[in-house]
Amino acid sequence: MVDPFDYPGLIGFHVARGLARLHVTEGSIPAGSLSYIRETLASAGFEGPVHGLHIGNYVGVSLAYVTQVLVSIHPESRVFAIDPNIPHRGTSNPQSHVAALLAACGLKDSVVILAGFSGRKSVSNDGVIFDGYDPLANNASEISVENVLDSLGAVLQGNFRFALLDGNHEADYLRNEINRLKRLLAPDAIVVLDDVDEAWAELKTVFEEVRNEEFSYVGTDGRVGILQHRPRIATG
Ligand SMILES: C[S@@+](CC[C@H](N)C(=O)[O-])C[C@H]1O[C@@H](n2cnc3c(N)ncnc32)[C@H](O)[C@@H]1O
Repeated sequence: MVDPFDYPGLIGFHVARGLARLHVTEGSIPAGSLSYIRETLASAGFEGPVHGLHIGNYVGVSLAYVTQVLVSIHPESRVFAIDPNIPHRGTSNPQSHVAALLAACGLKDSVVILAGFSGRKSVSNDGVIFDGYDPLANNASEISVENVLDSLGAVLQGNFRFALLDGNHEADYLRNEINRLKRLLAPDAIVVLDDVDEAWAELKTVFEEVRNEEFSYVGTDGRVGILQHRPRIATG
């Protein structure tokens, strides 16, 4: 068994399965930011199940961690995890590693894996070549279903009290995800955006923009940015 709050244990699990430590470490949200998310959720005062949406799974490090946070708040919490399962950082079929990690963490009953793009098809690895894999040259063979957020929104509305967005890293793509997300979120849902730092200045701009609209600012640790959903109440 792996304790999902034991960050070195999560990384070590994948290294023991043959994945490169550098990729797993650099491709996953760091321990300090996950712990900041955990503290924020602990102080949110949630009662009852806290269902979550997780966009961008890679090999499941942040997914395992935040799922454990939510099931610790309430054991019937569920997390819907969206990722197209295209190669990432030189790893093919990353979803197989996600499933293995969730099983080792005892979280198989708490996560629904949705293999698809949150919005329209996007370029893998944000266009960066890793281990000789060229995302643009391989784009035609990277096929997955699309617009999963819209499909979820057609069925489930207002049910998610947590969301973590760490998929495609283009500003407009993230803006679109946030717009599509709104109808899925419960009032007061906590929303986490990864990489809203100087390394991803465009994403930092999105974090600053959206917090003036239907999301209030909760805080940042310098890497992840946290918002709270505050839907406008229609007045007559
Ligand atoms: C930075 S990694 C996620 C790391 C993960 N959150 C963690 O900390 O363990 C980004 C992931 O998002 C996926 N991704 C890229 N574009 C996406 C999209 N349009 N919709 C959903 N996931 C996407 C990538 O394939 C990759 O698996």
